[in-house]
Amino acid sequence: MLSVLQLYSASPLRNFSYLIYSDRNGEAVCIDPYDAKQIITALKKHGLKLKSILNTHEHPDHVHGNLELKEETKANVFGHPDARGKIPGMDETLKESGVYFENEGDSLVAWETPGHTDCHFCFAIQSRTRIHSVFSGDMIFNAGVGNCTRGGNPSRMYHTVKNRFYSIPDEVLLYPGHDYWENNLGFSESIEPKNNNITKVRSMMQTKRKDVEFLISDFGMERKINPFFRLKENSILNSAKLSPAETLSEEELFIKLRKLRDSW
Ligand SMILES: [Fe+2]
Repeated sequence: MLSVLQLYSASPLRNFSYLIYSDRNGEAVCIDPYDAKQIITALKKHGLKLKSILNTHEHPDHVHGNLELKEETKANVFGHPDARGKIPGMDETLKESGVYFENEGDSLVAWETPGHTDCHFCFAIQSRTRIHSVFSGDMIFNAGVGNCTRGGNPSRMYHTVKNRFYSIPDEVLLYPGHDYWENNLGFSESIEPKNNNITKVRSMMQTKRKDVEFLISDFGMERKINPFFRLKENSILNSAKLSPAETLSEEELFIKLRKLRDSW
C-alpha cells in the first residue's frame, strides 16, 4: 500500500506538496516540493527516506524546494523532457504511463496532461483493479481547473480534461497543487447560483480548521460542484453568465468558462 502526507504552505500561493510513502520499508517520493525544510522535518518525523522528487510542471511554485531537498536527501529529480533547463536539479525525464514508485500492488503512475503548460504531468496511485487517487498539480483544482496564461492552451486543457478526467470513477480522490477551494467555489456559485451542492460543500469546509485541515474531494463531488465537469447540465447551458451556451460546442463552452474564470 502507498500512503499520502499532504503538506501545506500558506504563503504565497496556498501550495500543497505531497509525500507518498510505503509503510513497509519507509521509502518515499515527493511531488512538487515547495518548502524543503517542512518536507525534511516531515521525512524525519515519519522515519522516511526520500528516493525521488517528481515535478508536475516547471512553474517556480512547483519546483521551489527541489535543490535544497535534493542536496539534503540525494533524491533524483524527475520532470517533463521539454522542461529540462526550467526545472532546477532535473536528473531524469518522466514518460506517459511510467511507474515512479511501487509498493505491495500499488503504483504511482505518470499521466501526461498538457493544458496548464505543455509540460505538465499528473500522478495517479493505481492498483491492478482501480485508481485510488490523482495528484493533479495545476491541472484540476477543487471546483475548478488550472489557468492557461503562463505557457498553456485552453483547447489542449479541454482535451486533456475530457480524455483523462471526464470518465474517471467517482471514488477517485483528488489531491491538487493548491488550496483554491474558496475562490473556485465563489466562481462556481456565480455560474450556478442555485446549485445546492455548493452550499453543502461550504458547510463541510466549515468543519475544518482553517489552513490546518483541508477538505479532500473525489471526482464524484467534483461532478456536482466543478463547472468544468458540468458542461452538459441544464444549469450551465442556461447560465446567464454563459449565454448563449446552447449554440456552443462543448469545447467552446469549456474555453468560454475558462476565460470567464480568468477575469472573475
Ligand atoms: Fe502552474
